[in-house]
Amino acid sequence: METIYEELVEAAKNAAQNSYSPYSKFRVGAAVLTKTGKIYRGTNVENASYGLTICAERVAISAAVSDGEREFEAMVVYTGTEQPSTPCGACRQFMAEFGDFKVLLVSSSGQIHETTVLELLPMGFSAKDLRNSSNG
Ligand code: THU
Repeated sequence: METIYEELVEAAKNAAQNSYSPYSKFRVGAAVLTKTGKIYRGTNVENASYGLTICAERVAISAAVSDGEREFEAMVVYTGTEQPSTPCGACRQFMAEFGDFKVLLVSSSGQIHETTVLELLPMGFSAKDLRNSSNG
């Protein structure tokens, strides 16, 4: 694996250690690599009002966007599970807002499933659908 991808996996793994998941106890870490070569990470942050929970992927993308980064090369999603886990539907939609990029799903046993945003969310809703509107 390329060094930058090893770094990306490490960043996601480290973020998972900071997971605030007292309810599910399911730790997730995500890290995005921008086209400019920077890495931003995020973890899942739960809430006593369960529905307010935010996933690691959305936190990582929001951190990058907050720093002015909108173009992504790849994302790693790390879970402390035997098999790699796949991003939830909300995160797939959130990722697709920023186009198609590589997604590596990594488990603590070392398994890696490589996919893409487009493969995770074919036919997703996007700005093109809004432009198609006849309402305004
Ligand atoms: N979770 C993520 O962080 N990413 C996903 O794509 C799926 C689920 C989190 C949310 C919640 O804190 C825990 O995992 C269990 O659903």
